[in-house]
Amino acid sequence: MKILAIETSCDETAVALLEISGALETPEVKVLGNTLLSQAQLHEEFGGVYPNLAKREHIKNLPPLLAETLKQAGETPEQPNVDLIAVTTGPGLEPALWTGITFAEKLGKDWGKPVVAVNHMEGHIWSVLYNQETNSTLTLPALALLVSGGHTELVMVNDFGHYEIIGRTLDDAVGEAFDKVARMLGLTYPGGPKISKLAEEARAKGTTPNFTLPRPMIHSHDLNFSYSGLKTAVLYKLKAQESLTEEFKSEVALEFENAAVEVLVKKAEQALEAHSEVKTFIVAGGVSANRYLKRSFENLLEKFPEVSLRFPSPELSTDNAIMIGLAAYVRTQAFPEVLNRAENLIAKGNLSLDSSKV
Ligand code: KG4
Ligand code: ZN
Repeated sequence: MKILAIETSCDETAVALLEISGALETPEVKVLGNTLLSQAQLHEEFGGVYPNLAKREHIKNLPPLLAETLKQAGETPEQPNVDLIAVTTGPGLEPALWTGITFAEKLGKDWGKPVVAVNHMEGHIWSVLYNQETNSTLTLPALALLVSGGHTELVMVNDFGHYEIIGRTLDDAVGEAFDKVARMLGLTYPGGPKISKLAEEARAKGTTPNFTLPRPMIHSHDLNFSYSGLKTAVLYKLKAQESLTEEFKSEVALEFENAAVEVLVKKAEQALEAHSEVKTFIVAGGVSANRYLKRSFENLLEKFPEVSLRFPSPELSTDNAIMIGLAAYVRTQAFPEVLNRAENLIAKGNLSLDSSKV
């Protein structure tokens, strides 16, 4: 099945053409074309993503990205060899989501092909189906920890297309906390990778911070998270400091990363203990690119030898269109009727995974 996938939920415009076949546990995925334009630099000046700016950029970027994707795949723009078009309809910034939807609907009409709605978070989960290193079977049920700029969720994947959120952040997402702390340290958006770099350098030097930051909700007897208190604790720490030396910034980055990851690991451990039926543990979303986080989960999984660990390849951790194509494949295999039904596509900023069932 050839899928043209479009992603415009936040500050990345992305288009990909995939050819996918086979069982969902071991799909064969060929990326025929793949393009992405990040607006991060543009949003950097504002310290965050502005919906109307994102919208304007997506509208400008989509046509050239489509042309380039089709060119990479050796397809003609008038009538390419495509079976369906997949587009993210939420969650995300609604003005940004609409640009992708409108674009996809126009292509669907012009080419006479169905358009399938994809939940962005479902895309993050299935980003792990494209991982050149691990060619192994993905066995369900799975537990997925989704860590991105907008979400921190523990999701039970009981079957393909069936999701149950068993834990979530009560306030900020972990990626958001990385970005906000980075900003306080004078680092540019998106701050996650920059904090991570500082923290890794400090760790390599054997630095030990001479203060501790809170591990919010680590002892709560549920699977929820909270990251706003941790961010505020950093703010107070910085305010109390006379001058922000490079050394102090590194200590903050290190202790912040330690605290943020420790809570994720603890909650994942609790979830795995509570759900002994889980066969695969998936960690996905932008923050899953964090190397310390990855090592920490590799350590955790030593306690659960019967569970296999799946991460996306680093370029598929952050937003991209390949994962949207993969999630569309999952949807069409789990619910074939989506191909024969004209879907009324609506952008939903707060679309939940629980409601993505047909
Ligand atoms: O999944 P994503 O690309 O977009 C959303 O759906 O939100 O995630 C972006 C988030 C940003 O908050 C960014 O700072 C964070 O992922 N991020 C990281 C790293 N790389 C990206 N956070 C920590 N360490 C990283 N290496
Ligand atoms: Zn994302």
